[in-house]
Amino acid sequence: MLGLTFIMNLSIAENIEEPSDELTQVAQEVIAGLSQSPKQVSPKYFYDEKGSALFDAITELDEYYVPRVEKAILVRHRAEICAAIGSGMTLVEPGAGSCEKIRWLLPELDLAAYIPMDISGEHLQASAVSLSDDYAELKISPQVCDHTQGIDIDLAADDAAPVFFYPGSSVGNFEPEAAVEFMRAMRAQMQDTGGLLIGVDTKKDADILHAAYNDSAGVTAQFNVNLLDNLNSLLEGDIDTDKFAHHALYNAEHGRIEMHLRCIGRHSAQLAGHQLEFDEGELVHTEYSYKYHPDEFIELAKSAGFAPVKVWQDEDRWFSVMYFEPV
Ligand SMILES: C[S@@+](CC[C@H](N)C(=O)[O-])C[C@H]1O[C@@H](n2cnc3c(N)ncnc32)[C@H](O)[C@@H]1O
Repeated sequence: MLGLTFIMNLSIAENIEEPSDELTQVAQEVIAGLSQSPKQVSPKYFYDEKGSALFDAITELDEYYVPRVEKAILVRHRAEICAAIGSGMTLVEPGAGSCEKIRWLLPELDLAAYIPMDISGEHLQASAVSLSDDYAELKISPQVCDHTQGIDIDLAADDAAPVFFYPGSSVGNFEPEAAVEFMRAMRAQMQDTGGLLIGVDTKKDADILHAAYNDSAGVTAQFNVNLLDNLNSLLEGDIDTDKFAHHALYNAEHGRIEMHLRCIGRHSAQLAGHQLEFDEGELVHTEYSYKYHPDEFIELAKSAGFAPVKVWQDEDRWFSVMYFEPV
């Protein structure tokens, strides 16, 4: 583990035993979302340890084409992508999860440091240790944080400029205006140099998208329902997960997958000391996954202060990897 520095802020999960300001904030945020009509919960609550493992299982599914196609693009164009990034940079990856995708670039990427960030602390720690075992020379500084609360990467004046790596079309989980805000937060960490390498899923046949988010093995369904288990354990709740079913559809008008939990039997529950009522058929919104034509996404990135350098796509144009520089 030489050279591995952990910047471990207290994770949400570690705070269960002793209520803290962080936990109070979580309770307020979750209860506020479940008090709206329609009810909603932020997708960041998918990722307890089990949720992170289920997400890794989703990435192995045939129907979920995203990692397969994105990998093909990154590996095929690796030399050109790494040349665009340049050498000696600090690569910062929000929502790094299992730190798998950086491995696809490392054979040709000369980095000063790698900063994987994630809300799921234990998963991030294990991933960083495993990466360090394979790349002993790489300086890895994992940071446990909720990147929706702001990005602060604490670079010293003489540290290399940050290049953000945001693969997996995670940017699609934000509504477009929030995606611009998030990219602005990344842009604010750069001066004149730096960059953003980002994976963006494209609009395509609704059947392909439907299958990707409704896999036949039911892993995405388990992942979705596990969010309620996570809320129960974070906030001492008794939501009956058997009363909820996975529901995901493609809304072509908005160009987004909409993922919900559908209540399949009227249900009362407690969460963080609050009484919740769910009607039969009621939907709890858990995630959007916006899809963009490359030109649409470039407009969003421009309004966040970036200029496009290059777009790489697969032959079927199912996915885009784009590199931007600050303007
Ligand atoms: C869909 S997975 C993507 C993982 C990986 N980047 C990839 O492309 O396969 C999203 C990752 O972001 C993390 N995450 C989700 N919301 C987050 C937040 N608000 N702050 C920090 N990490 C978050 C999750 O724990 C998870 O590891």
